[in-house]
Parts: sequence; C-alpha cells; structure tokens
Amino acid sequence: MKILVIGSGAREHAIIRRLAADRPSPELHAAPGNPGIARLATCHDVLSTDLDAQVRLAQQLAVDLVVIGPEQPLVAGAADRLREAGLTVFGPSAAAARLEGSKSWAKEIMAAAGVPTAASVTVTAAEQIEPGLDRVNPLSDVPFVVKADGLAAGKGVVVTDDRRAAVAHAEAVLAAGGSVVLEEHLDGPEISLFCVSDGTRVVSLAPAQDFKRALDEDRGPNTGGMGAYSPLPWAPEDLAETVVRTVARPTVDELAARGIPFVGILYCGLALTRRGLRVIEFNARFGDPETQVVLERLASPFAPLLHDAARGELDERQGLQWHEDAAVAVVLASAGYPATVRTGDVITGIDACEALGAHVLHAGTARLDGELVSAGGRVLSVVGTGSDLEGARTLALAGVEAIGLEGGHHRSDIARRAAADALGTAEGRA
Ligand code: AMP
Ligand code: GLY
Repeated sequence: MKILVIGSGAREHAIIRRLAADRPSPELHAAPGNPGIARLATCHDVLSTDLDAQVRLAQQLAVDLVVIGPEQPLVAGAADRLREAGLTVFGPSAAAARLEGSKSWAKEIMAAAGVPTAASVTVTAAEQIEPGLDRVNPLSDVPFVVKADGLAAGKGVVVTDDRRAAVAHAEAVLAAGGSVVLEEHLDGPEISLFCVSDGTRVVSLAPAQDFKRALDEDRGPNTGGMGAYSPLPWAPEDLAETVVRTVARPTVDELAARGIPFVGILYCGLALTRRGLRVIEFNARFGDPETQVVLERLASPFAPLLHDAARGELDERQGLQWHEDAAVAVVLASAGYPATVRTGDVITGIDACEALGAHVLHAGTARLDGELVSAGGRVLSVVGTGSDLEGARTLALAGVEAIGLEGGHHRSDIARRAAADALGTAEGRA
C-alpha cells in the first residue's frame, strides 16, 4: 500500500513510524515531513496549507490512502479537495472538522446528540460577557473558563480565578473579530480518547493523558501539550466503551443525520468529574503528543485500520490489540515556548538518547548546513516504553536529558502521579 501523510509534526512522525512497523510495510510519503520523518518516508516539498499542491502530489504518486495530520488543512477543506480528485482519505471534511474549528458549533452538536459537556454561553458582543460569566459561574466560586471559538493551537483557552483576567481575554478575542465561549468549570482528571470513525461506525483507540501546562505541577500557561502517557491505570476499565457509547457514537450519528459523515479521528477530550464524564473539547484529528504514546502501544495493523475507515468499511466487531507495555512522551520545547520562541539552536545528543532505548520524534526541527537545529515551539518528543509507567517515564526523562538544546525546556513530572498511583505509593492519581 502507498500512503501519503500530510503534516510535519511529532504526531505525523509517530503515525509514520507506526505505519512503517506494519507487515508488509507500506510505501510511505510525507508532505512536507521533517528531518526525522525523512528517515522513514520520502518527503515532498509541499506545505500542509497548499491544498492544490497536495492534490497534485497525491495524484502523481497514485497513493492508495492520504492521512491528514493537522487541523488547519482539515478545517480548510483538504479532505474534500482530495476526495473530489478521487483519492481515498483518512480525515474529516471541512463540514465535519467544524467540530474542532468552532467550539460553539461543537456545543450545538453535543446538545442535539445528548452528549454530556460543560454548560456554556456563546458571546458575540462585549456587553454579554459579564451576564454570561454570571450564568456559567453564578457563585464565582470556581475558576472562569473563557475560550476563543475558532482554532487557536491550544492557546485560545484561559482558565482563571481572576474575573478581570477572564473578561480581558473575552474582550481580546472579540476585539480580534472572534466569538467567545464561556463555560462551566469542570474539575477532575482529563483524558484523551481517539475514536476512529468511517462516518457511521466507531472503534476507539487506547486512552491517554496529556499535560497542557508549560511547567511542572500544572503551572504556567497552556501549550499545545508538553507530554503524555498511556495506559491510565487509575481510569475505569470500561472507560473507552463508555465514551464510545455516550459520546463518540451519538456525535457521529448526529453528524450523519445532518448529512455530514465524520471520517477520521474524533478526538474526545474529557474530564472525569465527580458527576461523571464530560466532554471538554472535540478535535477532528490525532492529538499531539498523545498519538506518540497511543500508537506506540497499538499491536494491531495500523494501515488497514485507517484504510478501512477511509473507505467506509470499518469493522466494529474486530477489537484492536494493545501491547501491555506503558509509553511516556516528554516534549522538548524551545526557549520561550509557548510565547515567542527562539529557533535556529543546534540540537545534539539524539543518538545518545536513542542508545538508551528511548526514541525521538521530530516536530520543530530543520537541517541547516548539515546540522540539526530547532525550527519551532515544540522541537521534539522523546518516547520511553517499559513494563510499567515508572520505567517508561524514567527512560523518557533520561532520553530528553541526553539531548542538548540551548534554552530548551521540558516537564519532569509527566506521568509521575499515575506511575506512583500504579505502584501503590501515597502520591495518588492525576
Ligand atoms: P481546550 O482547548 O478546549 O481543550 O482547552 C484547553 C485546556 O483548558 C483543557 O485541556 C483543560 O485543561 C482546560 N479546560 C478547557 N475547558 C475547561 C473547562 N470547562 N473546565 C476546566 N478546564 C477546562
Ligand atoms: N494534545 C492536545 C491536542 O492535540 O490538541
């Protein structure tokens, strides 16, 4: 099978790495890819935003399947364009990707489908902000949650105890021409569950947990994600099944009933609150960095799963197999991330990291005069595996510490609580 993967991040590197492990292994192409992906796939100089060039490339290569990684091309209609050209595509249409592209529309779909989520108010004018906050947080006794309605690379959400800061964020989003979703605050651990859908059927992958804040102990600003782990030893055993039944399937059904089949990954971002599971957000693609750990644990063939979904032939009855091993990903970010980042710093030590048994997935890296340098906010993910989370996180951390990047930073507490919990020590769950 010949497969083209669109994107250039650590998520796409993880997808390609896992596709390359299938037997027989597919012929792999990437657009544009990155220096790490180039070791496993032929990289083509086509940007993820250039839909015309993507269609031309996929046609020239006569690929059997196109897998679209990032949200921007999906929301811009890349899957529609490729399908119109006769290609088989894993990734939702622009209409279905609105689940990620518009938080207010996602809320509307969830309400229609009876999917449990935080109560919310959509605000389009400044005078609606204060009454909206009073509605979703009447006692002002929990943090305020203020979200930009559109795509924001994980940075459009502010969760704060400070009402003035909440109002200021809402005003800034409105001033920039967007609308704002104000939400009830959800407490409890967060879970990411990727559900594969072919438009009607749904198969879930293994749950993972992402760490969104920049600094240890969940301090600092929100980021695109600083690390992840899987499995979740503290989560209920029937979690994936419950999410498919109460969240993913009703959502896919609701979209299908509206004539908007969802083909691709329905990423369910969930909070396990005292009152039960609630959706925090939907994304229309694999998550980053959760994909780096989830795919590491997938034992079933991967390309046939994506290909079946893309053709509307997903087999719900055939369960997926998972490795018992745990996986932990630690993201190495550039100086300054998630604010203004510095790029062009030399990256050293990748071989030393991999000699320890961890592996490196590239994100913001580039080759400059023969040297590997940083070229983005999240530079790479180091993934460690082990028979338990403690072993996996120890390896991932040793791996990231073997890498040299001036000003680079990473979190040292990825999966720490879950590993301690699994070992029965006092620290407790995430
Ligand atoms: P989102 O982009 O919607 O996933 O939000 C980013 C992060 O903000 C989430 O991973 C949560 O940590 C936090 N967050 C979003 N919505 C809520 C909510 N309603 N209650 C509490 N935290 C939230
Ligand atoms: N891990 C968060 C995201 O992919 O949006």
